[in-house]
Amino acid sequence: MTQGYQMPDDFLWGGAVAAHQVEGGWDKGGKGLSIADVMRAGDKNTARIEDDEVLADQVYPNHWGVHFYDHYKEDIKLFAEMGMKAFRTSIAWTRIFPNGDEDVPNEEGLQFYDDLFDELHKYNIEPVVTLAHFEMPLHLVKAYGGFSNRKVIDFFTKFAEVCFRRYHNKVKYWMTFNEINNQTNYQDPHPLLQNSGLILSDTDNWEEAMFQAAHFEFVASAQAVQIAHAIDPRLQVGDMIAFNPIYPLTARPEDVLYCQRAMNYRYYFGDVQALGEYPAWLKKYWARKNFKLDITPEDLAIIKAGAVDYIGFSYYNSSAVKYTEDNPELDFNEGANDVKNPYVPRSDWGWQIDPVGLRYSMNWMTARWGKPMFIVENGFGAYDKMEEDGSVHDDYRIKFLADHLLQAEKAVAEDGCELLGYCPWSAIDIVSASTGEMKKRYGFIYVNADDNGEGDFKRSKKDSFNWYKQVIASNGADL
Ligand code: BG6
Repeated sequence: MTQGYQMPDDFLWGGAVAAHQVEGGWDKGGKGLSIADVMRAGDKNTARIEDDEVLADQVYPNHWGVHFYDHYKEDIKLFAEMGMKAFRTSIAWTRIFPNGDEDVPNEEGLQFYDDLFDELHKYNIEPVVTLAHFEMPLHLVKAYGGFSNRKVIDFFTKFAEVCFRRYHNKVKYWMTFNEINNQTNYQDPHPLLQNSGLILSDTDNWEEAMFQAAHFEFVASAQAVQIAHAIDPRLQVGDMIAFNPIYPLTARPEDVLYCQRAMNYRYYFGDVQALGEYPAWLKKYWARKNFKLDITPEDLAIIKAGAVDYIGFSYYNSSAVKYTEDNPELDFNEGANDVKNPYVPRSDWGWQIDPVGLRYSMNWMTARWGKPMFIVENGFGAYDKMEEDGSVHDDYRIKFLADHLLQAEKAVAEDGCELLGYCPWSAIDIVSASTGEMKKRYGFIYVNADDNGEGDFKRSKKDSFNWYKQVIASNGADL
């Protein structure tokens, strides 16, 4: 056991999931089709294919998730047994507005989340809710082009307003767009679709399209923050940044400068959402690239007035970069300049394992944005093996989480960073977002199902379940 630090008394120990990765029930309760409902399974070497519609001969893992839609009472009971004080999930936009552009929300969908939040409160578990977690209504993609279209701002803010009005007495902590900055990897169609509902052609400028969509999301997010505060000043609305610190591979000045520019690029999303304005370097960058973005003075005023209350972030890994001579402008090109960091190991999926990077990140964010933070994802995707007696010995996950938690606790206790809570990914096994696999497991609770949805979906406690229970009971001291 590792000796950790006691966290503040009101620290929100929890676990996280997202609606499309756990709920299943894709066609129940009046739900419409989301982008996740047409994503086939892939694996670490095969990208997920997105269909235009549900095809009868294809397999879509998000159609079943882990059947949380029907199982949530049993699952929440297990979360309570672990001692969780918070549970992060998302509201499936398509349960509330099946197509995204209706005038009236779907009452059955609203009732589902009322019941879910009531069940959590029964055990004094605080819901922490993301509005858009990679599950945009498919209709908004097909009919409007997703967030390439300004109209989608209104559809999102309407959805947000309906949720704030309905649940403001049950949900205090909200986030607008999950991992909004994943789309800096704009060369890959997957994050563009997941983040922004973009489907681009070869003749589009993918980078420019990404900046435009992100801008409309910033406006939508800032409007949502203001709507939430007007409805109920107690509400706290955060952004949600995928934080993956980028290190220079060497002390060569070009490597260091390239790295700084890479960090600026990946995290300008946080600058806009937390500080309420675009950084100067980015305006210069757009001008040099000749990007013509639709950004109005009214948009900028909305962004300024709608800064987030806290920084929600995920932390899984870090990366390292190296300047190359063919890039004299030192422009960030995610992936292209990525190199292996020789000082950190990697998971089976190639993700660098770097607990110290979490403390570094928290200090970086504090210095840059000066807001309270909330770790809303941190976890280890691994192959788990269920023994015949139903046990799962996931000591590798315990080590990963303990090492990371220790660094987060040091950031709080030694460095004075403000941290609202810790919701590791994931409370229970989920369908992986990037690969669609079930076998890339993250949960404290094992779900007996395979990549094809075969299995009885029975829940069993992994060793990490009992470990996390003890962490919570000791308020972070026994890791
Ligand atoms: C984040 C997402 O990217 O990381 C989650 O917010 C996702 O939805 C998690 O599941 C882990 O990534 P993956 O691709 O291994 O599921």
